[in-house]
Amino acid sequence: MLLLRKNDLRDKIKVTKTFGEIPPVACYPSELNQAFMNILSNAIEAIDDTGEIKIQTAINGSNVRIVFSDTGRGIPPENNDQIFNPGFTTKGVGVGVGLGLAICYRIIQKHQGIISVESEEGQGTSFTIEIPIEAEVRTET
Ligand SMILES: Nc1ncnc2c1ncn2[C@@H]1O[C@H](COP(=O)(O)OP(=O)(O)OP(=O)(O)O)[C@@H](O)[C@H]1O
Ligand SMILES: [Mg+2]
Repeated sequence: MLLLRKNDLRDKIKVTKTFGEIPPVACYPSELNQAFMNILSNAIEAIDDTGEIKIQTAINGSNVRIVFSDTGRGIPPENNDQIFNPGFTTKGVGVGVGLGLAICYRIIQKHQGIISVESEEGQGTSFTIEIPIEAEVRTET
């Protein structure tokens, strides 16, 4: 997933990965990959000049926790409740569709997980995803 975005990253963003040991989790891999890509794209787009993106994985109780933190421009508090809404974008006509996080939300829900956001304007943003290790994942027919 990082390979795909490598050209966008150029030399301006430092990516730090801290992957704790996590057990195999039953999941829809291509969908989770899509969710992670959407979050990463936003992080890249939120960094104007240079910055850092951190990706961390860990076990938290009976969940797997994945945290994406960026040092981008942050989210104004008044937008916090809206960012997961389909069609909400601050990126302007023809730039953003406002679907990235809505899709992400749906995918995490499908995994009986939760996604939350913490952000400080001008400082950065951090998305935390928690997915149960023993999620009930049915094969689509
Ligand atoms: N890491 C981030 N830093 C700052 N703002 C963010 C970040 N992630 C999301 N946002 C805000 O949330 C809005 C919605 O994000 P979302 O990914 O759903 O749509 P989009 O990026 O605008 O468009 P699309 O993903 O469909 O191309 C963004 O327009 C932006 O204002
Ligand atoms: Mg997006």
